[in-house]
Amino acid sequence: MSSDNIGITISNHLLLNQQQLSTGATGSYTRLLQALVLACKIIQRDVAKAGLVDVLGRAGSINVQGEEVQKLDELANTTVKRRLSTSGECCGLASEEEADIIEIPRQYPKGNYIVHFDPLDGSSNIDANVSIGTIFSIYRRITPSTNDISLLDMLQKGVEQVGAGYVIYGSSCILVFSTGQGVNGFTLDPSIGEFLLSHPNIKTPEKGKIYSINEGNYNYWDAPTKKYIDWVKTGYQEHKTHYTARYVGSLVADFHRNLLYGGIFLYPADLKDPKKPQGKLRLMCEANPLAYIVEQAGGLATTGKERILDIEPRHLHQRTPLIIGSPEDVRIYEDFISGKR
Ligand code: AHG
Ligand code: MN
Ligand code: MN
Repeated sequence: MSSDNIGITISNHLLLNQQQLSTGATGSYTRLLQALVLACKIIQRDVAKAGLVDVLGRAGSINVQGEEVQKLDELANTTVKRRLSTSGECCGLASEEEADIIEIPRQYPKGNYIVHFDPLDGSSNIDANVSIGTIFSIYRRITPSTNDISLLDMLQKGVEQVGAGYVIYGSSCILVFSTGQGVNGFTLDPSIGEFLLSHPNIKTPEKGKIYSINEGNYNYWDAPTKKYIDWVKTGYQEHKTHYTARYVGSLVADFHRNLLYGGIFLYPADLKDPKKPQGKLRLMCEANPLAYIVEQAGGLATTGKERILDIEPRHLHQRTPLIIGSPEDVRIYEDFISGKR
């Protein structure tokens, strides 16, 4: 998408994109994305008035991840589910907030797309008015459409994604997504309720100065990760980079900043919680979509040993270490893990 198109509406962008994608486009994919866009506009509206109506704070339950559910988590989950179920384009959904596959209710027509989503990312930041977001990951079903949706369809490798994106509800509301032809960012103009192209063809810098990691977990990391972070902080003689630390605690916000400015985000495996030996982040609804986007922007995403998009998923809520960002920074981390450094 050229920069001449700055300011075009997301609907127009999707239609232009659809023409470029295939001559036999049916509009299904565009309708799916439009349903996601509408869901995110609704969540943005709810988040913006959260302090005024009774939607701040805890919902009083624990989700499938063993984490406390916030009221806005529930609201966002319901909104995304409803918009995707009624779009007519989906056959199966999976949410960070729900244990099982979400089937499309009988009364709605079904399509061929599968969406994994994190309805509200960064929920611990909600009550403090810090940026939060929504993340989504799109696949096509692989089993015949006459069958019920199965785990075979739901658990495809990240490399099979046909699109992915995220929205940040922050100082402005921005939607960043890729359909496999680069990455574009759209900012919501609240006065007209439209997302307009503001960040065409995003490319991440080859190398950055930002490192983003929860250093409170230092004592629980493996030795190579400790060595890498020590090197980032004290190795100026060698790397000649004045690294700076930035960590919001909302993955979408940390990722987006580093995508634009360059740098590395790490949530490695740690020994803090024996129930989460692979770290905290989820493969299907967090790591895979952001890995798809970062690669489309020229970056890399790894566990330290394996490309994120090549991981064979075994269950819906699988966790994975995630090291993601500028390609040179990610390669250096991999060198520490493999013992080359
Ligand atoms: P969620 O709010 O969807 O459960 O995700 C929270 C995640 C992610 O947004 C962030 O990167 C990470 O938790 C922060 O974890 P720590 O508080 O352990 O640093
Ligand atoms: Mn999340
Ligand atoms: Mn979440």
